[in-house]
Amino acid sequence: MPEVPIYTRSQLALRNGQDKPEIWVCYKGLIYDVSESRLWKNGKHYEHWAGQDLTEELKDAPHSASVFSKFEVVGRMYSTD
Ligand code: HEM
Repeated sequence: MPEVPIYTRSQLALRNGQDKPEIWVCYKGLIYDVSESRLWKNGKHYEHWAGQDLTEELKDAPHSASVFSKFEVVGRMYSTD
């Protein structure tokens, strides 16, 4: 696990491109900062919104998780598992 801060779902939800300047997306427990992406402008990417865990949704995307490779991991999700 990378040495990054842990965030709750509600903290992630504020990084949806509407409430705070940061635009974050969670995939497989890791939170990526996609603020610089033109494809995530205002937090929206096709029919998806940032500020949440989109692990399941990626299965229906026309691309793999390799799209995350150029983005920084800024945190990971709090989990009670
Ligand atoms: C209807 C579903 C989706 C469509 C049509 C879609 C479409 C696209 C397209 C066309 C690109 C451009 C680059 C490429 O194809 O490799 C892209 C990039 C990307 N997508 Fe998706 N996507 C979808 C769902 C998702 C989901 C669910 C996630 C997150 C789990 C995601 C995360 C990303 C990221 C991080 C990029 C890279 C953005 C960049 O390089 O600026 N996408 N997507």
